[in-house]
Amino acid sequence: MDILVIGGGGREHAIVHALSKSPRAGRIYCAPSNAGINMIAEGVGLAVSDFEGICDFLDTHPNIKLTVVAPDNPLADGLVNELEARGHRAFGPRAEAAIIEASKKFAKELMKNNNIPTAAYEAFSDCGPAVEYLKKTAYPVVVKADGLAYGKGVTICSSFAEAKKAVEEILLDNIFGNKNPSVVIEEFLEGREVSVLAFTDGKTIKAMPPSQDHKRAYDGDRGPNTGGMGAFSPSPYYTKEMGEWAMKHIFLPTVRAMSEMGRKFKGVIYFGLMMCKDGIKVLEYNSRFGDPETQAVLPLLKTDLLDIMEAVIDERLDEIDIEWSGETAVTVVYASGGYPGSYEKGKEVAIGDVGGCFVYHAGTAIKDGKLVTSGGRVLAVTAKGKDIPDAREKAYAALKNIRIDGGFYRTDIGLK
Ligand code: AMP
Ligand code: GLY
Repeated sequence: MDILVIGGGGREHAIVHALSKSPRAGRIYCAPSNAGINMIAEGVGLAVSDFEGICDFLDTHPNIKLTVVAPDNPLADGLVNELEARGHRAFGPRAEAAIIEASKKFAKELMKNNNIPTAAYEAFSDCGPAVEYLKKTAYPVVVKADGLAYGKGVTICSSFAEAKKAVEEILLDNIFGNKNPSVVIEEFLEGREVSVLAFTDGKTIKAMPPSQDHKRAYDGDRGPNTGGMGAFSPSPYYTKEMGEWAMKHIFLPTVRAMSEMGRKFKGVIYFGLMMCKDGIKVLEYNSRFGDPETQAVLPLLKTDLLDIMEAVIDERLDEIDIEWSGETAVTVVYASGGYPGSYEKGKEVAIGDVGGCFVYHAGTAIKDGKLVTSGGRVLAVTAKGKDIPDAREKAYAALKNIRIDGGFYRTDIGLK
């Protein structure tokens, strides 16, 4: 069968790559795609927000029997609802379930009502009471904008002045442009972070190997927050016992609560967890595969991804055994100079011998026959090995043969 994947980053390259290994996969299309994905799929010039265009494209390509919606915005805006209404089969949660990522307030209430461990919090839509609360609370404190904010909605504030500014920007200046801006103010949690992605059909949930993202731009976790500068999987810090505990106290209760609310979640759910001294707590939910975690996790998948996605859609995930290779993967992101701030596009990208590594493209294009940058995160290089040091060595050896004019990458992914 033919497949359409919606998105055009490193995560989508990893998804397309995994799907392309399925013996049942025919032609794979990707919208809007990128230069790397175009090497294994057919790029379609449609934006992820162009629901009408996407539906029309499917109407004229009847061999496409599955559309995989990867990014957060079209999921939150109801692309899956729209596709289903037009008679197309889609992988990903409907809008009423994707709200678990799109509204922090919704997610916090869900956790509170179901005794799912998370940071203590209060939600506000008026500035006065929020500022009063900030006068009494302990610092550091975390201020989160409700709604999708391109990864920029969270500020960790060490003082009242800083927190007040963050709250005012969200509620008074409405910098994220929400219809009804609101804010979640929550307790600061200390510990090591782990991302657990899981397939779920609303009844059964199957966790993928745990991974760890590296959000800061520079070595030693310094510099500004980014979309993610690298990852490794599995995370050795998250033990099997922790996984069992989280399944019982976090994963299953979340999926069950969503179904009971008439918001059955089908797709990939992402649990951003903090391993605190007093136990595991949820930092955030995402309604999709993570980026760059997916580029580290999917290369370890042995089972046919297409089979898993169809089992999710048909609600028979319990019938599928999902196998993983048992190896470790390390992914290093190569970014444009200046990222996550402003950066120039159109810089030359040269990829030499990378041995057995995977080079996932995130922001690349072809211009005048040459591979050039077209985004902040340009490539994600994944190596597999027997453990983190082994995979790390291979990934960095490959990076020596890759050059992005003016670009940079962290040299410490998987070191700590
Ligand atoms: P979120 O968008 O909610 O995942 O937040 C982005 C990042 O902010 C997380 O991955 C954490 O690194 C950090 N963060 C969020 N909430 C907290 C918290 N309560 N305590 C400490 N760090 C947090
Ligand atoms: N790596 C974090 C995210 O995908 O949201």
